[in-house]
Amino acid sequence: MAASLYEGLSSNDTKFGSNIHLLKFTNQLKIIYTIIRNVETSSKDFIFYNNRLIRLLLEEAMNLLPLKSLQITTPLNQTFEGFESAVSNRNIVGVSIIRAGESMEFELRNVIPDCKIGKVLIQRNEETFQPELFYSKFPEYSKDDYVFVLDPALATGGSVLMAIDCLIKSGYKEDKIIFVNIISCPEGIEIVKEKHPSLKIVTGMIDDCLNEKKYILPGLGDFGDRYFT
Ligand code: URA
Repeated sequence: MAASLYEGLSSNDTKFGSNIHLLKFTNQLKIIYTIIRNVETSSKDFIFYNNRLIRLLLEEAMNLLPLKSLQITTPLNQTFEGFESAVSNRNIVGVSIIRAGESMEFELRNVIPDCKIGKVLIQRNEETFQPELFYSKFPEYSKDDYVFVLDPALATGGSVLMAIDCLIKSGYKEDKIIFVNIISCPEGIEIVKEKHPSLKIVTGMIDDCLNEKKYILPGLGDFGDRYFT
């Protein structure tokens, strides 16, 4: 079997190091990001195109899970040296940061129907920009668990760092956490990487910077507002 069939959809050859996986900027991605950034885009299209992206991001997060060999027989009675996932679907835990992260659960269930789901409610104080934890509920930790943390935007990193702290306190291991987001920025990536060097990030886009209100620029605005209202 050609090795290229199993290569990822992303590159980890960015200036941010090998744990940061950036989706390849294909023609389809160029179109989709233009649509979701556009202030004129309808809510229906915003949802549709983000769902397509979320699916690609989740496929890429799954590409980071280990494989093991599996020998099978084809209908032509040929022996084929293939692979299966070394991680059971029940050992994949999706943890969404409410509310925006919940937009990613639907596609997660499409690719891993029997995954487990956890939630954490963290809100940014609009005056101090500091995250505040209101609620968290995770499945009981099992040592083989991998976690996909779901939040569409990595801005200051405050919310995701708080979510990761909660996960680690509940037993989950930093090197088995993959943070999946649609859009990120250098400030957020650097802080997450500095505090959790073995955690992986799968992102679709690394934008320029944050503005004074901590929105990503050029960005796509408030993801939760555009997806849910
Ligand atoms: N959250 C968003 O939805 N958008 C940003 O630009 C930053 C945080």
